[in-house]
Amino acid sequence: MAGVPTDAGAPAPARDFSALASPGIRGLASYDPGHDIVALRNKAGEHGLLELGGNESAWGASLLAMAALRSELDTLELYPDPRGGVLKHALAEAFGVAREQLLLGNGTHELLMQVAQVFAGPERPVLVSRYCFAVYPLAAQAANARLDVVEALPKEHASQPRGHDIDAMIAALTPAHGLVMLANPNNPTGTWLTSAQIERLLQAAGPDTLVVLDEAYGEFLDQPGCESTLSLLLKYPNLLVTRTFSKLHGLAALRVGVLVADPGVVAVMERVRESFNVNSPGLAAAAAALKDEAHIATVLHETTGNREALAIELKARGWFVHPSQTNFLLVDFGKSETAAAIDRGLLARDIVVRPMRGYGLPQCLRITVGKVEQNARLLKALDAVMAEAALSAPGVGASA
Ligand SMILES: Cc1ncc(COP(=O)(O)O)c(C=O)c1O
Repeated sequence: MAGVPTDAGAPAPARDFSALASPGIRGLASYDPGHDIVALRNKAGEHGLLELGGNESAWGASLLAMAALRSELDTLELYPDPRGGVLKHALAEAFGVAREQLLLGNGTHELLMQVAQVFAGPERPVLVSRYCFAVYPLAAQAANARLDVVEALPKEHASQPRGHDIDAMIAALTPAHGLVMLANPNNPTGTWLTSAQIERLLQAAGPDTLVVLDEAYGEFLDQPGCESTLSLLLKYPNLLVTRTFSKLHGLAALRVGVLVADPGVVAVMERVRESFNVNSPGLAAAAAALKDEAHIATVLHETTGNREALAIELKARGWFVHPSQTNFLLVDFGKSETAAAIDRGLLARDIVVRPMRGYGLPQCLRITVGKVEQNARLLKALDAVMAEAALSAPGVGASA
Protein backbone atom coordinates (compact mmCIF):
# COMPACT_ATOMS: atom_id res chain seq x y z
CA MET A 1 0.00 0.00 0.00
CA ALA A 2 1.29 3.48 -0.87
CA GLY A 3 2.71 5.57 1.94
CA VAL A 4 3.26 2.66 4.36
CA PRO A 5 6.90 2.63 5.47
CA THR A 6 8.77 -0.62 4.94
CA ASP A 7 11.37 -1.90 7.42
CA ALA A 8 13.93 0.35 5.71
CA GLY A 9 11.63 3.35 6.12
CA ALA A 10 10.61 3.61 2.45
CA PRO A 11 6.97 3.39 1.40
CA ALA A 12 6.03 0.10 -0.25
CA PRO A 13 5.52 0.39 -4.03
CA ALA A 14 1.88 1.24 -4.80
CA ARG A 15 1.85 -1.19 -7.74
CA ASP A 16 4.09 -2.97 -10.20
CA PHE A 17 5.17 -0.08 -12.41
CA SER A 18 7.58 -2.27 -14.35
CA ALA A 19 4.54 -3.51 -16.32
CA LEU A 20 4.35 0.01 -17.77
CA ALA A 21 8.03 0.11 -18.73
CA SER A 22 9.29 -0.67 -22.22
CA PRO A 23 9.90 -4.41 -22.79
CA GLY A 24 13.67 -4.25 -22.31
CA ILE A 25 13.44 -2.34 -19.04
CA ARG A 26 10.80 -4.72 -17.62
CA GLY A 27 13.23 -7.56 -17.04
CA LEU A 28 16.26 -5.38 -16.39
CA ALA A 29 18.19 -5.56 -13.13
CA SER A 30 19.97 -2.31 -12.33
CA TYR A 31 23.78 -2.08 -12.31
CA ASP A 32 25.27 -3.82 -9.29
CA PRO A 33 27.76 -1.36 -7.75
CA GLY A 34 29.26 -3.96 -5.37
CA HIS A 35 29.75 -3.24 -1.67
CA ASP A 36 28.18 -0.16 -0.03
CA ILE A 37 31.39 1.85 0.09
CA VAL A 38 30.01 4.82 2.03
CA ALA A 39 28.61 2.58 4.78
CA LEU A 40 31.95 0.76 4.95
CA ARG A 41 33.88 4.04 5.12
CA ASN A 42 31.70 5.18 8.01
CA LYS A 43 32.35 2.05 10.04
CA ALA A 44 36.06 1.66 9.21
CA GLY A 45 38.56 1.69 12.05
CA GLU A 46 41.54 3.97 12.66
CA HIS A 47 43.46 2.91 9.52
CA GLY A 48 40.53 3.83 7.32
CA LEU A 49 38.97 1.87 4.50
CA LEU A 50 41.33 0.54 1.84
CA GLU A 51 39.30 0.75 -1.36
CA LEU A 52 40.56 -1.69 -3.95
CA GLY A 53 37.24 -2.56 -5.55
CA GLY A 54 36.50 0.20 -8.05
CA ASN A 55 39.63 0.42 -10.22
CA GLU A 56 40.07 4.02 -9.15
CA SER A 57 43.49 5.68 -9.14
CA ALA A 58 45.47 5.37 -5.91
CA TRP A 59 47.47 8.39 -7.11
CA GLY A 60 44.49 10.75 -7.17
CA ALA A 61 43.96 13.61 -9.57
CA SER A 62 46.57 15.89 -11.08
CA LEU A 63 47.23 19.11 -9.14
CA LEU A 64 46.62 21.03 -12.38
CA ALA A 65 43.20 19.40 -12.65
CA MET A 66 42.36 20.31 -9.07
CA ALA A 67 43.38 23.93 -9.64
CA ALA A 68 41.23 24.08 -12.77
CA LEU A 69 38.31 22.62 -10.85
CA ARG A 70 38.65 25.21 -8.08
CA SER A 71 38.57 28.02 -10.60
CA GLU A 72 35.04 26.89 -11.54
CA LEU A 73 33.68 27.16 -8.01
CA ASP A 74 32.90 30.88 -8.27
CA THR A 75 30.36 30.32 -11.03
CA LEU A 76 28.36 27.33 -9.84
CA GLU A 77 25.12 29.22 -10.52
CA LEU A 78 25.82 29.03 -14.26
CA TYR A 79 25.08 26.08 -16.50
CA PRO A 80 28.15 24.36 -17.92
CA ASP A 81 29.17 24.91 -21.53
CA PRO A 82 26.74 22.64 -23.43
CA ARG A 83 29.30 22.27 -26.23
CA GLY A 84 32.16 21.39 -23.89
CA GLY A 85 34.36 23.64 -26.03
CA VAL A 86 37.48 23.85 -23.88
CA LEU A 87 37.63 20.12 -23.21
CA LYS A 88 36.89 19.22 -26.82
CA HIS A 89 39.67 21.54 -27.95
CA ALA A 90 42.13 19.81 -25.60
CA LEU A 91 40.92 16.34 -26.62
CA ALA A 92 41.07 17.11 -30.34
CA GLU A 93 44.67 18.20 -29.90
CA ALA A 94 45.62 15.21 -27.73
CA PHE A 95 43.92 12.63 -29.96
CA GLY A 96 44.67 14.24 -33.34
CA VAL A 97 40.99 14.30 -34.33
CA ALA A 98 38.44 16.99 -35.21
CA ARG A 99 36.10 18.38 -32.56
CA GLU A 100 33.17 17.10 -34.61
CA GLN A 101 34.40 13.58 -33.90
CA LEU A 102 33.97 14.01 -30.13
CA LEU A 103 30.94 13.42 -27.94
CA LEU A 104 31.27 14.09 -24.21
CA GLY A 105 29.49 11.98 -21.62
CA ASN A 106 28.73 11.93 -17.93
CA GLY A 107 31.26 9.15 -17.65
CA THR A 108 31.58 6.56 -20.40
CA HIS A 109 28.81 4.60 -18.70
CA GLU A 110 26.37 7.21 -20.04
CA LEU A 111 27.90 7.07 -23.52
CA LEU A 112 27.70 3.26 -23.67
CA MET A 113 24.01 3.35 -22.72
CA GLN A 114 23.42 6.06 -25.34
CA VAL A 115 25.17 4.15 -28.11
CA ALA A 116 22.85 1.21 -27.53
CA GLN A 117 19.81 3.47 -27.24
CA VAL A 118 20.61 4.97 -30.64
CA PHE A 119 22.09 2.09 -32.63
CA ALA A 120 20.71 -1.15 -31.13
CA GLY A 121 17.14 -2.41 -30.92
CA PRO A 122 14.80 -5.32 -31.61
CA GLU A 123 16.11 -5.71 -35.16
CA ARG A 124 19.69 -4.78 -34.30
CA PRO A 125 21.17 -7.21 -31.72
CA VAL A 126 24.36 -6.60 -29.74
CA LEU A 127 27.37 -8.91 -29.84
CA VAL A 128 29.66 -9.21 -26.80
CA SER A 129 32.09 -11.68 -25.27
CA ARG A 130 31.58 -13.67 -22.07
CA TYR A 131 33.24 -11.73 -19.20
CA CYS A 132 32.65 -8.39 -20.92
CA PHE A 133 32.12 -5.21 -18.91
CA ALA A 134 28.78 -5.43 -17.08
CA VAL A 135 27.33 -2.29 -18.66
CA TYR A 136 27.11 -3.77 -22.19
CA PRO A 137 24.39 -6.34 -21.39
CA LEU A 138 22.50 -3.63 -19.47
CA ALA A 139 22.75 -1.24 -22.40
CA ALA A 140 21.55 -3.88 -24.86
CA GLN A 141 18.62 -4.91 -22.74
CA ALA A 142 17.56 -1.33 -22.03
CA ALA A 143 17.51 -0.81 -25.80
CA ASN A 144 15.27 -3.90 -26.29
CA ALA A 145 18.09 -5.52 -28.22
CA ARG A 146 18.98 -9.23 -28.16
CA LEU A 147 22.37 -9.91 -26.60
CA ASP A 148 24.57 -12.49 -28.31
CA VAL A 149 27.33 -13.68 -26.00
CA VAL A 150 30.40 -15.32 -27.55
CA GLU A 151 32.34 -17.78 -25.38
CA ALA A 152 35.63 -16.40 -24.08
CA LEU A 153 38.99 -18.11 -24.40
CA PRO A 154 39.50 -20.83 -21.77
CA LYS A 155 41.15 -20.15 -18.42
CA GLU A 156 43.97 -22.39 -19.64
CA HIS A 157 44.78 -20.11 -22.60
CA ALA A 158 48.52 -19.42 -22.55
CA SER A 159 48.54 -15.63 -22.91
CA GLN A 160 44.93 -14.39 -22.58
CA PRO A 161 43.06 -16.57 -20.06
CA ARG A 162 39.31 -15.86 -20.25
CA GLY A 163 40.13 -13.15 -22.81
CA HIS A 164 38.00 -12.28 -25.81
CA ASP A 165 38.10 -14.91 -28.58
CA ILE A 166 38.29 -12.62 -31.59
CA ASP A 167 37.95 -15.47 -34.11
CA ALA A 168 34.79 -16.70 -32.39
CA MET A 169 33.44 -13.13 -32.32
CA ILE A 170 34.13 -12.76 -36.05
CA ALA A 171 32.41 -16.08 -36.72
CA ALA A 172 29.36 -14.97 -34.72
CA LEU A 173 29.02 -11.60 -36.49
CA THR A 174 26.08 -11.14 -38.86
CA PRO A 175 25.13 -8.12 -40.97
CA ALA A 176 22.10 -7.71 -38.66
CA HIS A 177 24.21 -6.93 -35.61
CA GLY A 178 23.75 -3.29 -34.70
CA LEU A 179 26.67 -3.18 -32.31
CA VAL A 180 29.71 -5.09 -31.16
CA MET A 181 30.81 -3.92 -27.72
CA LEU A 182 34.21 -4.79 -26.29
CA ALA A 183 36.81 -3.31 -23.98
CA ASN A 184 40.52 -3.25 -24.66
CA PRO A 185 42.02 -4.03 -22.21
CA ASN A 186 39.01 -5.79 -20.75
CA ASN A 187 37.35 -5.37 -17.37
CA PRO A 188 37.16 -7.70 -15.42
CA THR A 189 39.73 -10.05 -17.00
CA GLY A 190 42.52 -7.49 -17.59
CA THR A 191 43.27 -9.24 -20.91
CA TRP A 192 43.90 -7.42 -24.16
CA LEU A 193 43.74 -7.56 -27.96
CA THR A 194 46.34 -6.49 -30.49
CA SER A 195 45.66 -3.80 -33.09
CA ALA A 196 45.75 -6.50 -35.78
CA GLN A 197 43.01 -8.47 -34.01
CA ILE A 198 40.88 -5.37 -33.71
CA GLU A 199 41.40 -4.55 -37.35
CA ARG A 200 40.35 -8.07 -38.33
CA LEU A 201 37.12 -7.58 -36.39
CA LEU A 202 36.56 -4.23 -38.10
CA GLN A 203 37.14 -5.79 -41.52
CA ALA A 204 34.65 -8.55 -40.73
CA ALA A 205 31.94 -6.22 -39.47
CA GLY A 206 29.53 -5.07 -42.16
CA PRO A 207 29.09 -1.33 -42.79
CA ASP A 208 25.89 -1.26 -40.70
CA THR A 209 27.49 -2.86 -37.64
CA LEU A 210 29.15 -0.37 -35.31
CA VAL A 211 32.11 -1.60 -33.30
CA VAL A 212 32.38 0.08 -29.89
CA LEU A 213 35.87 -0.18 -28.52
CA ASP A 214 35.86 0.80 -24.86
CA GLU A 215 39.35 2.01 -23.95
CA ALA A 216 38.66 2.89 -20.30
CA TYR A 217 42.04 1.32 -19.47
CA GLY A 218 43.59 1.95 -22.89
CA GLU A 219 46.36 4.17 -21.55
CA PHE A 220 47.71 1.28 -19.47
CA LEU A 221 48.04 -0.98 -22.51
CA ASP A 222 51.74 -1.24 -23.26
CA GLN A 223 52.34 -4.35 -25.34
CA PRO A 224 53.98 -4.85 -28.71
CA GLY A 225 51.42 -4.77 -31.51
CA CYS A 226 48.97 -2.64 -29.53
CA GLU A 227 48.95 0.79 -31.17
CA SER A 228 46.37 3.53 -30.69
CA THR A 229 43.13 2.62 -32.38
CA LEU A 230 42.34 6.28 -32.97
CA SER A 231 44.39 6.01 -36.17
CA LEU A 232 41.86 3.44 -37.47
CA LEU A 233 38.95 5.89 -37.26
CA LEU A 234 39.44 7.33 -40.74
CA LYS A 235 39.67 3.89 -42.32
CA TYR A 236 36.66 2.43 -40.47
CA PRO A 237 33.73 4.85 -40.12
CA ASN A 238 31.90 2.18 -38.10
CA LEU A 239 34.51 2.31 -35.28
CA LEU A 240 33.53 4.09 -32.05
CA VAL A 241 36.21 4.51 -29.37
CA THR A 242 35.43 5.53 -25.79
CA ARG A 243 37.86 6.87 -23.21
CA THR A 244 37.34 7.94 -19.61
CA PHE A 245 38.84 10.36 -17.11
CA SER A 246 37.90 8.00 -14.25
CA LYS A 247 40.92 5.69 -14.33
CA LEU A 248 44.35 7.01 -15.34
CA HIS A 249 43.37 10.62 -14.65
CA GLY A 250 41.83 9.91 -11.23
CA LEU A 251 38.70 11.98 -11.85
CA ALA A 252 36.03 9.31 -11.30
CA ALA A 253 34.00 11.60 -9.01
CA LEU A 254 33.55 14.18 -11.77
CA ARG A 255 32.08 11.74 -14.32
CA VAL A 256 33.72 12.65 -17.61
CA GLY A 257 33.96 10.33 -20.59
CA VAL A 258 34.38 10.84 -24.31
CA LEU A 259 33.39 9.02 -27.46
CA VAL A 260 35.51 9.43 -30.59
CA ALA A 261 33.87 8.48 -33.88
CA ASP A 262 32.89 9.53 -37.35
CA PRO A 263 31.24 13.00 -37.29
CA GLY A 264 28.06 11.38 -38.62
CA VAL A 265 27.86 9.02 -35.63
CA VAL A 266 28.45 11.90 -33.24
CA ALA A 267 25.77 14.03 -34.92
CA VAL A 268 23.13 11.31 -34.47
CA MET A 269 24.09 10.66 -30.87
CA GLU A 270 23.97 14.40 -30.09
CA ARG A 271 20.20 14.15 -30.60
CA VAL A 272 19.76 12.23 -27.35
CA ARG A 273 22.51 13.87 -25.31
CA GLU A 274 21.22 15.79 -22.30
CA SER A 275 22.29 19.36 -23.03
CA PHE A 276 24.38 19.95 -19.89
CA ASN A 277 25.50 16.38 -19.26
CA VAL A 278 29.06 17.23 -18.21
CA ASN A 279 29.46 19.69 -15.34
CA SER A 280 31.80 22.71 -15.38
CA PRO A 281 34.29 21.44 -12.77
CA GLY A 282 34.50 18.20 -14.76
CA LEU A 283 35.06 19.95 -18.08
CA ALA A 284 37.79 22.17 -16.67
CA ALA A 285 39.54 19.48 -14.64
CA ALA A 286 39.56 16.99 -17.52
CA ALA A 287 41.06 19.53 -19.93
CA ALA A 288 43.82 20.33 -17.42
CA ALA A 289 44.44 16.63 -16.63
CA LEU A 290 45.17 15.88 -20.27
CA LYS A 291 48.04 18.36 -20.19
CA ASP A 292 49.64 17.12 -16.96
CA GLU A 293 52.19 14.86 -18.57
CA ALA A 294 54.24 14.44 -15.39
CA HIS A 295 51.24 13.16 -13.42
CA ILE A 296 50.25 10.83 -16.24
CA ALA A 297 53.78 9.42 -16.45
CA THR A 298 53.93 8.87 -12.67
CA VAL A 299 50.59 7.06 -12.54
CA LEU A 300 51.46 4.83 -15.49
CA HIS A 301 54.89 3.98 -14.13
CA GLU A 302 53.75 3.31 -10.57
CA THR A 303 50.68 1.34 -11.58
CA THR A 304 52.62 -0.95 -13.88
CA GLY A 305 55.41 -1.59 -11.39
CA ASN A 306 53.08 -2.16 -8.46
CA ARG A 307 50.79 -4.38 -10.52
CA GLU A 308 53.60 -6.71 -11.48
CA ALA A 309 54.97 -6.79 -7.92
CA LEU A 310 51.51 -7.56 -6.53
CA ALA A 311 50.94 -10.28 -9.14
CA ILE A 312 54.19 -11.98 -8.12
CA GLU A 313 53.15 -11.97 -4.45
CA LEU A 314 49.69 -13.34 -5.21
CA LYS A 315 51.04 -16.06 -7.47
CA ALA A 316 53.59 -17.01 -4.81
CA ARG A 317 50.63 -17.80 -2.55
CA GLY A 318 49.41 -20.33 -5.11
CA TRP A 319 46.57 -18.38 -6.72
CA PHE A 320 45.90 -17.94 -10.41
CA VAL A 321 46.44 -14.33 -11.43
CA HIS A 322 45.21 -13.31 -14.87
CA PRO A 323 47.78 -11.28 -16.84
CA SER A 324 46.70 -7.66 -16.82
CA GLN A 325 47.32 -4.52 -18.83
CA THR A 326 45.10 -2.44 -16.55
CA ASN A 327 45.17 -0.97 -13.06
CA PHE A 328 43.68 -4.13 -11.50
CA LEU A 329 44.25 -7.87 -11.22
CA LEU A 330 41.68 -10.64 -11.56
CA VAL A 331 42.60 -13.37 -9.11
CA ASP A 332 41.14 -16.89 -9.23
CA PHE A 333 41.05 -18.57 -5.82
CA GLY A 334 39.91 -21.90 -7.21
CA LYS A 335 36.66 -22.19 -5.27
CA SER A 336 33.79 -19.78 -4.80
CA GLU A 337 33.76 -20.55 -1.04
CA THR A 338 37.41 -19.53 -0.80
CA ALA A 339 36.83 -16.27 -2.68
CA ALA A 340 33.77 -15.50 -0.53
CA ALA A 341 35.69 -16.23 2.69
CA ILE A 342 38.55 -13.99 1.57
CA ASP A 343 36.15 -11.21 0.61
CA ARG A 344 34.51 -11.43 4.05
CA GLY A 345 37.84 -11.61 5.85
CA LEU A 346 39.18 -8.58 3.99
CA LEU A 347 36.01 -6.62 4.71
CA ALA A 348 36.41 -7.42 8.40
CA ARG A 349 39.84 -5.76 8.08
CA ASP A 350 38.41 -2.70 6.30
CA ILE A 351 39.63 -3.72 2.86
CA VAL A 352 37.27 -3.73 -0.12
CA VAL A 353 37.87 -5.75 -3.27
CA ARG A 354 35.30 -6.61 -5.95
CA PRO A 355 33.39 -9.89 -5.81
CA MET A 356 32.93 -11.38 -9.28
CA ARG A 357 29.74 -13.43 -8.83
CA GLY A 358 27.84 -11.02 -11.08
CA TYR A 359 30.34 -11.75 -13.85
CA GLY A 360 29.85 -15.51 -13.50
CA LEU A 361 33.22 -15.84 -11.77
CA PRO A 362 32.34 -16.49 -8.10
CA GLN A 363 35.74 -18.10 -7.52
CA CYS A 364 37.49 -14.83 -8.42
CA LEU A 365 38.01 -11.42 -6.86
CA ARG A 366 39.11 -8.30 -8.73
CA ILE A 367 41.71 -6.23 -6.94
CA THR A 368 42.68 -2.67 -7.86
CA VAL A 369 46.41 -1.98 -7.83
CA GLY A 370 47.29 0.38 -5.00
CA LYS A 371 50.36 2.19 -3.75
CA VAL A 372 53.19 0.08 -2.32
CA GLU A 373 51.99 0.49 1.27
CA GLN A 374 48.39 -0.25 0.32
CA ASN A 375 49.35 -3.44 -1.47
CA ALA A 376 51.44 -4.44 1.54
CA ARG A 377 48.42 -3.94 3.81
CA LEU A 378 46.33 -6.05 1.45
CA LEU A 379 48.86 -8.89 1.39
CA LYS A 380 49.24 -8.86 5.17
CA ALA A 381 45.47 -9.02 5.55
CA LEU A 382 45.21 -11.80 2.97
CA ASP A 383 47.75 -13.87 4.89
CA ALA A 384 45.86 -13.28 8.13
CA VAL A 385 42.55 -14.28 6.53
CA MET A 386 44.07 -17.45 5.09
CA ALA A 387 45.60 -18.41 8.42
CA GLU A 388 42.43 -17.60 10.36
CA ALA A 389 40.10 -19.51 8.09
CA ALA A 390 42.61 -22.33 7.50
CA LEU A 391 42.20 -21.69 3.80
CA SER A 392 44.77 -22.69 1.26
CA ALA A 393 45.33 -22.22 -2.44
CA PRO A 394 44.43 -24.95 -4.91
CA GLY A 395 47.20 -27.54 -4.98
CA VAL A 396 48.63 -26.34 -1.66
CA GLY A 397 46.25 -28.37 0.50
CA ALA A 398 42.56 -28.69 1.27
CA SER A 399 40.41 -25.65 0.65
CA ALA A 400 37.67 -24.64 3.03
C1 LIG B 1 35.65 -1.21 -19.18
C2 LIG B 1 34.98 -0.04 -18.55
N1 LIG B 1 34.31 0.81 -19.31
C3 LIG B 1 33.68 1.88 -18.80
C4 LIG B 1 33.71 2.15 -17.45
C5 LIG B 1 32.93 3.30 -16.92
O1 LIG B 1 33.73 4.37 -16.67
P1 LIG B 1 33.15 5.80 -16.37
O2 LIG B 1 33.59 6.13 -15.00
O3 LIG B 1 33.76 6.68 -17.42
O4 LIG B 1 31.66 5.75 -16.51
C6 LIG B 1 34.41 1.30 -16.59
C7 LIG B 1 34.42 1.53 -15.14
O5 LIG B 1 34.86 0.78 -14.36
C8 LIG B 1 35.05 0.17 -17.16
O6 LIG B 1 35.71 -0.70 -16.39
